[in-house]
Amino acid sequence: MKKNYTYDDICLIPQMTHLRSRNDAKTVVTFGRNNEIKLLAPFISANMDTVTGPEMAALIWDVGGIGALHRFNTVEEACKDYLEVKKINPPAECIVSVGVHGYKERCEELAKVGAKYFVVDIAHGHSIAMKEALSWMKGNLRLKNGDKPYIIAGNVATPLAVRHLSAWGADIVKVGIGPGACCKTRIVTGHGVPQFSAVLDCAREAHRLGIKIIADGGIRNSGDIVKAFAAGTDFVMLGSLLSGTKEAPGQVITKATERGDKQHFKVYRGMASDSARKDRGKEYNGKYSYVPAAEGVKTLVPYKGSAHDIIMQLKKGLKSGMSYCNATDISEIKDCALYELQTSSGFNEGKPHILG
Ligand code: XMP
Repeated sequence: MKKNYTYDDICLIPQMTHLRSRNDAKTVVTFGRNNEIKLLAPFISANMDTVTGPEMAALIWDVGGIGALHRFNTVEEACKDYLEVKKINPPAECIVSVGVHGYKERCEELAKVGAKYFVVDIAHGHSIAMKEALSWMKGNLRLKNGDKPYIIAGNVATPLAVRHLSAWGADIVKVGIGPGACCKTRIVTGHGVPQFSAVLDCAREAHRLGIKIIADGGIRNSGDIVKAFAAGTDFVMLGSLLSGTKEAPGQVITKATERGDKQHFKVYRGMASDSARKDRGKEYNGKYSYVPAAEGVKTLVPYKGSAHDIIMQLKKGLKSGMSYCNATDISEIKDCALYELQTSSGFNEGKPHILG
């Protein structure tokens, strides 16, 4: 039986470096059909309603990455959000999300207002509904200038799924079943693949086919980002790391502590949580005859201030990681990095553990 590993199970082995300064590591990556976009860092903010709205998409463009606007709104609201990003930060591009129901109208209206980059995002992306949506988009959807759309599709966790999604029309495949901070897919369904192995196996298949992948879920620090690139990813998607920030959608919630101090929080929740579904209303107003079991949870995360500083720190951590494995460019990490398995005590040793 094959054994699968997650980020904590492996350690990256330091290499002799030719970089004289960590700042010599270049985090710029290209994105788009003709590599027309240069991202300052390979980060994509998650298309979740507590992570990416227009403010996050406008900000991340300037600091390092691209935002993926969430899809849990009406077609009109989605178009308004896209135009709002352009209003706040005119050069900023962003990714717009669709599901596998009602996607034709949503795609066409978003293309009309100028959207070029689409993500078809469902919990179990290796599905017949995904095949139909991708085939329609590839065959029928055209951008304002007549070009074909650039399509991300997911989520999946196996090389076979990567092969299928690529054949159905995906330019990038989003990888991650159950590793996310607010996910309970593995608990509820028993399914999913530990993320380091999922990224490793899916990246190999994607690169063999000439397409790219996004490692989505389970990234808790810049070390995990470096490990995801060591496994071969082309981009990382960040959810919980960017939740609780000023630019994430949602109100700041203030609570008094027992001592009378004030603590500030924001909501972070899975898009398949009961909370998110109730707010969407659909499942509860009879639109769907069958409501599936919740596969996500909701929590309050401490308010973190602007996402700007978080993204800058992640970028610096990534540069340092690149220096440790002697990679000058992001694309070199997968070739330069050496990884080995570690024990759980080895993992614990790596965390600050000052004894009093
Ligand atoms: P992180 O770990 O960055 O993960 O917070 C973000 C990713 O989690 C996925 N996601 C979910 N997965 N149930 C799940 O099993 C959910 O309700 C859910 N909501 C989001 C998604 O891929 C996101 O980018």
